[in-house]
Amino acid sequence: MSLEQALNDDERLAQLDLEQLKQLVGLVEYDASGDPFPVSGWDALVWVVGNATQTAHFHQSAFGMELVAYSGPETGNRDHLAYVLQSGAARFVVTGAYDPSSALADHHRKHGDGIVDIALSVPDVDRCIAHAAAQGATVLEQPHDVSDEFGTVRLGAIATYGDTRHTLVDRSRYTGPYLPGYVERRSTYVKRDGAPRRLFQAVDHVVGNVELGAMDRWVEFYNRVMGFTNMAEFVGEDIATDYSALMSKVVANGNHRVKFPLNEPAIGRKKSQIDEYLEFYGGPGAQHVALATNDILTTVDALRAEGIEFLATPDSYYEDPELRARIGEVRAPIEELQERGVLVDRDEDGYLLQIFTKPLGDRPTVFFELIERHGSLGFGIGNFKALFEAIEREQRKRGNF
Ligand SMILES: [Fe+2]
Repeated sequence: MSLEQALNDDERLAQLDLEQLKQLVGLVEYDASGDPFPVSGWDALVWVVGNATQTAHFHQSAFGMELVAYSGPETGNRDHLAYVLQSGAARFVVTGAYDPSSALADHHRKHGDGIVDIALSVPDVDRCIAHAAAQGATVLEQPHDVSDEFGTVRLGAIATYGDTRHTLVDRSRYTGPYLPGYVERRSTYVKRDGAPRRLFQAVDHVVGNVELGAMDRWVEFYNRVMGFTNMAEFVGEDIATDYSALMSKVVANGNHRVKFPLNEPAIGRKKSQIDEYLEFYGGPGAQHVALATNDILTTVDALRAEGIEFLATPDSYYEDPELRARIGEVRAPIEELQERGVLVDRDEDGYLLQIFTKPLGDRPTVFFELIERHGSLGFGIGNFKALFEAIEREQRKRGNF
């Protein structure tokens, strides 16, 4: 699979060219011929929330996403409401129970707002499911077609950590707005004058939090079942503060379009942020979604104007001469970054700018990262300590530290 083929229709529609995407999310060339489970990219992140109608509004009004499709009682769906939102190549599907006996209501009771499905775009669903089954994965849905007047989508699904799944989607024969059962629906929300066209262009990575001792098992799962390779390894001291620690390893598909850092708590003097997540999510799940932006300063300004709160970065972070020496020249003056609390990290390939929101919902669980890559294929390892100390300050305020 060439990189050009890795661009999906939504990316083309979002007018992302290959160079932009390469820069945005750190794409690499790879030879797919020996890949037992070829993945071309993200299809959608499917959320279960307590109030899909209001969450869809939030993603439009605060995060600048566009509503593109809908399913609900008016379209014959008596179980739940679902809103499909897009920003560039990123697609979110926000679902909420309509019928009190919906399985989604049980899911929400247990987990709160979160990501239930990290759906991936694959060229051959049958081949992937056959390989996953042969490797002992739990197949939740055998390959099958769903069709309507816009064509046919082939789907299958496998289980991953916790109650999270990967639906595998081949929509190459489909022209509808999302999936059969959904109707096209456009935003009634009108952007403010001067608002940027979009605040992010793509999903960069989705981080999974798993239980103590389970990280290596999930790394091995992604290696064996999905043919993902290990990108980087962050362990022990690297990401320990004085109080808590975690271990993190990163797996990625062949072209690095899909990257999954996997965290597990490590023993520390206090409850780690991963422990807090596991307690309040009710088990393993998706911890954060990194949204790729080509202008993090404008994006942060726009989000702040909408009341989105970010983790605070101490001034000492920017005044640290070691940090200044390490990051060297970046595209914006350090004062501009400091004003917004944007973090910088550099490695041998380049640098990245990043910032993290506070948890999105009521529970201290899932949150967003914004990331602007300039050559760096990393995840901000140099920032982990500063970042975790910021998270711990928030945890302490919540009485969970
Ligand atoms: Fe991240």
